[in-house]
Amino acid sequence: MEDVTTLIQSFRPVNGYDPPQAMKLYEHWAETYEQDCTMMNYRAPQLAADFLSEHFSGNPEEALVLDVACGSGWVAKEMAELGFKNFEGVDGSQGMLDLAAKTDLYKDLRLALLGPEPLPAQPGVFDVVIIVGALYAGFVPVSVVRELCNAAKPGGFIVMMRANHRGEPNAKYTEDLKRELQLMEEEGLWTPVGTKQVDRYMEFPHLDTKGAEDPQDLLIGGTVYLYKKSMQ
Ligand SMILES: C[S@@+](CC[C@H](N)C(=O)[O-])C[C@H]1O[C@@H](n2cnc3c(N)ncnc32)[C@H](O)[C@@H]1O
Repeated sequence: MEDVTTLIQSFRPVNGYDPPQAMKLYEHWAETYEQDCTMMNYRAPQLAADFLSEHFSGNPEEALVLDVACGSGWVAKEMAELGFKNFEGVDGSQGMLDLAAKTDLYKDLRLALLGPEPLPAQPGVFDVVIIVGALYAGFVPVSVVRELCNAAKPGGFIVMMRANHRGEPNAKYTEDLKRELQLMEEEGLWTPVGTKQVDRYMEFPHLDTKGAEDPQDLLIGGTVYLYKKSMQ
């Protein structure tokens, strides 16, 4: 666990991440990502999949799912438990995509640095577009949210789950994200289905021993947003 902290710190530039820097982190982290996140009680993939499942009325076996910033394939593994079978994935880290390939759940995996590069997905065909753990400053920019909606088919679901990290630059990112979500609703691109706040998105038990400045730093909450693409 100590190693994760060191790793993250060594790849965190003074002014925060930018997408290429974030990719360097994941290239180095890929091999132990799931193991480390399990130790941090990272529950986002399961929480996002469960929230979608509560609202999904179709046959999950027939649904085509686009897993954006799919990482090691954790989200697909959780969704497979709920009956979903058809996955395509996109990520900016080849190391993470190699792990996703090993799950044998994805029929297509594409490498793309989102933001600088467009989302490599056919527009208007996915029953579900999901992104978990990547909508942060220096990771996947807010502008990509429109591309997620564009990839969904009319009536399709868009699921976005992220941690409620405190402080800047995440506060600014959250503000920009909320504005974009609202704007897209006003433009008639989608309608909100629901939003859920969770207390335990992940935990940082290792900070205990190092002495966290604020006890709240030990527990990170999260938000999952669910939208339905308009039928236009
Ligand atoms: C915290 S991991 C989440 C992975 C997976 N969704 C999960 O929940 O386990 C963040 C992922 O986002 C990817 N990522 C971050 N910024 C990206 C970008 N701009 N373009 C593509 N992938 C990005 C990283 O490579 C990494 O795999």
